[in-house]
Amino acid sequence: MAPALLNYLGFGSQTQTSVAKESDKNPIRALPSSWYTSQDLYNLETRAIFSKKWMLITHQNRLPNPGDWIKFDIAGYEFVVSRDRASKFHAFHNVCRHRAFPVFEGEKGTSKIFACRYHGWSYGLDGKLAKAPKYDDLEGFDKSANGLFPIHVHLDTNGFVWVNLDSGEKPEIAWEDDFAGIDTQERYKQYNFDDYVFDHDYKMTGAYNWKILADNFNECYHCPTTHPDVPTLADIQTHEVDTDAAWIKHRSVLTKEQEQNGLGISSTYYFPNASLSILPSSSSMHYQIFRNKTSSEEDFQLIAQMYARIVSEDKVLCELAQKNLNARIFINGELHPRLEKGPLYFQAVAREVVRSHYEREKVAKREIWPARRALPNGAGAVVSREDEELCEGLACRTDEKGLVW
Ligand code: FES
Ligand SMILES: [Fe+2]
Repeated sequence: MAPALLNYLGFGSQTQTSVAKESDKNPIRALPSSWYTSQDLYNLETRAIFSKKWMLITHQNRLPNPGDWIKFDIAGYEFVVSRDRASKFHAFHNVCRHRAFPVFEGEKGTSKIFACRYHGWSYGLDGKLAKAPKYDDLEGFDKSANGLFPIHVHLDTNGFVWVNLDSGEKPEIAWEDDFAGIDTQERYKQYNFDDYVFDHDYKMTGAYNWKILADNFNECYHCPTTHPDVPTLADIQTHEVDTDAAWIKHRSVLTKEQEQNGLGISSTYYFPNASLSILPSSSSMHYQIFRNKTSSEEDFQLIAQMYARIVSEDKVLCELAQKNLNARIFINGELHPRLEKGPLYFQAVAREVVRSHYEREKVAKREIWPARRALPNGAGAVVSREDEELCEGLACRTDEKGLVW
């Protein structure tokens, strides 16, 4: 992790540790409201975060058979995760290489081949272009250069599927840079993830920025005033978060009764977020609920319904807070260093990632889109490159007063 972030959080060195202790006594200002309302800042986050960080998407149990695929949408990037005949997992942008029509329609499916219905191009389960009708006559057409755009996939030790949209052959950020050890955390040893089957999923749309949701998820300061169910799952008084790299681990001590009833919760937040479709002013939340094969209907319903209640209680909190941020009266408030350690850590990570990407763009004097695919080398692409340059130039033309026109 970047030293600046470590220092900000007081984890950098001996000296910083004492600063951290000191700062436990002081509230810390949150990110300003503009970061939750500006379209430009959101566009920058798309480049700085969602185009290059690893994101937890689903579990392999949801794709048991060859040809299975599930579609996801994160920050405007629509893509599928799929399984091929050799049981290898792939992810592809949902963009036909011909004229950009979405190859995958519907939310999920099982396919022998991925066929685009616009002009009939079709792709194998490995994403390679299989057929482009009538293109066989074209000598200069290279099929192998026209497969579905692949997305990096990582399968962790527990069978969870992660993706990274960075278009580089190797993503700039390795999974281990942000998440090493997260799948082998001690408390996961009590679970056998293969004992879980996918039960159902649901989606909700809330009128708030994705960071409002992450701030809300990462503290339980609001639990006593909002969630009557939470004491069933955890002892609120003992709730703490541990933070490292790009994750926030929530823990609380179980009461005897919770332990006996097999309740209790092991909750981890993975920056930027898991399975969320993210927009600047609305967040679409995708909850995937897996059920232990041995769980009774009664036990499963108890937890599943309680969880659904808690997330809808949070939705109300997030919507009302965002509404007030939109009014631009309030810039930011002071957060509690212990009770709101989670959101403070989340915000520090977001700030660091956004700022460092922005610094790089300033040096390069242009926007840097890590997920964007490069034009190939070759004669045909020369005109396209000039077209691109013309379009980019339009945005930065200024008059003698330096005003953009
Ligand atoms: S856009 Fe897919 S075949 Fe033409
Ligand atoms: Fe909550």
